[in-house]
Amino acid sequence: MTADPLEIYLEESDLARALRADVRAGLTAVPRWLPPKWFYDARGSELFEQITRLPEYYPTRAERAVLAERAAEIARLTDAKTLIELGSGSSEKTRLLLDALTAHGTLGTFVPLDVSVSALRQSTAEIAAGYPGLRVRGIVGDFTRHLDRLPTGGRRLVAFLGGTIGNLLPAERSNFLAAMRAALERGDWLLLGTDLVKDPTVLIPAYDDAAGVTAEFNRNVLRVLNRELDANFDVAAFDHVATWDADQRWIEMRLRAGRPMRVRVLDLDLVFAEGEELRTEISAKFRPADVDRELTDAGFAVQGRWTDDDGLFAVTLAQAV
Ligand code: SAH
Ligand code: TRP
Repeated sequence: MTADPLEIYLEESDLARALRADVRAGLTAVPRWLPPKWFYDARGSELFEQITRLPEYYPTRAERAVLAERAAEIARLTDAKTLIELGSGSSEKTRLLLDALTAHGTLGTFVPLDVSVSALRQSTAEIAAGYPGLRVRGIVGDFTRHLDRLPTGGRRLVAFLGGTIGNLLPAERSNFLAAMRAALERGDWLLLGTDLVKDPTVLIPAYDDAAGVTAEFNRNVLRVLNRELDANFDVAAFDHVATWDADQRWIEMRLRAGRPMRVRVLDLDLVFAEGEELRTEISAKFRPADVDRELTDAGFAVQGRWTDDDGLFAVTLAQAV
């Protein structure tokens, strides 16, 4: 089957407006920051796929191992008719769930949602081709804004994989979980992938790889600003920085000006001192008890949790109560 046409909740004009607002707020703040969703233009989505294959970037492999081992059990527990995936990207690991739910016999519809049109176009075409009989409805949307528009009815399983929930700040995360619960009916399911707290000697290289792919990914956000807002960042003059904040339990990614710079973006004339840093992303790491508490506080009951053999990454299954 071919995929349904993409449902667009984010028009180009919304995106342009949101990007301008974020850039104005973030680049005039002290310290400067930019929200992570702007990484993912076509090139950014492709660079993220390269990250998932890096030797240092363990989360994708660890989560895939968990899903490979547990997908059949998840299918049995959930009986899902509709699988919704937030921040779906390539949906590559999600095939393990699609396979298991198809074999289980309940699945009718797959609904991937992502801000990246290019990633969705490719993933919906590939999945529709690979799963005859499955309805594939891709949604271009923002999972911090559009959860109230997800398809309703049937027994739903929402998958939020890759540790992407860790890219939200704690307050955004609790808003997200509350909105997620409000969008679900009692009995619907949430499958949540979370990276676990571990030694920084393992964590930091996952966000600062030897081949420099993550550095390119981080700098890509400046290319997006140059292209979309006609800014004039000297992209190569920014260094990639990844640090572990042990108190907050998150990796923080920044771009550091390698020399003093003046940058024009929108009507702003920005001065960067040498060494000045722009925060681009956090990636929070969790302890299992934190995941339980946050899910319980939001109105979910935790029904299962599985980790890979090395205890690097957790996948938690929770039910709306
Ligand atoms: N789930 C995939 C991809 C993770 S990368 C995996 O586990 O490998 C994060 C994905 O979330 C990207 O595809 C990015 O485009 C998407 N994304 C980031 N912020 C988003 C937002 N606010 N709303 C919707 N999608 C978002
Ligand atoms: N969700 C991914 C993570 O937190 C996103 C990611 C991986 C990322 N590497 C990155 C985001 C580097 C920004 C920069 O692991």
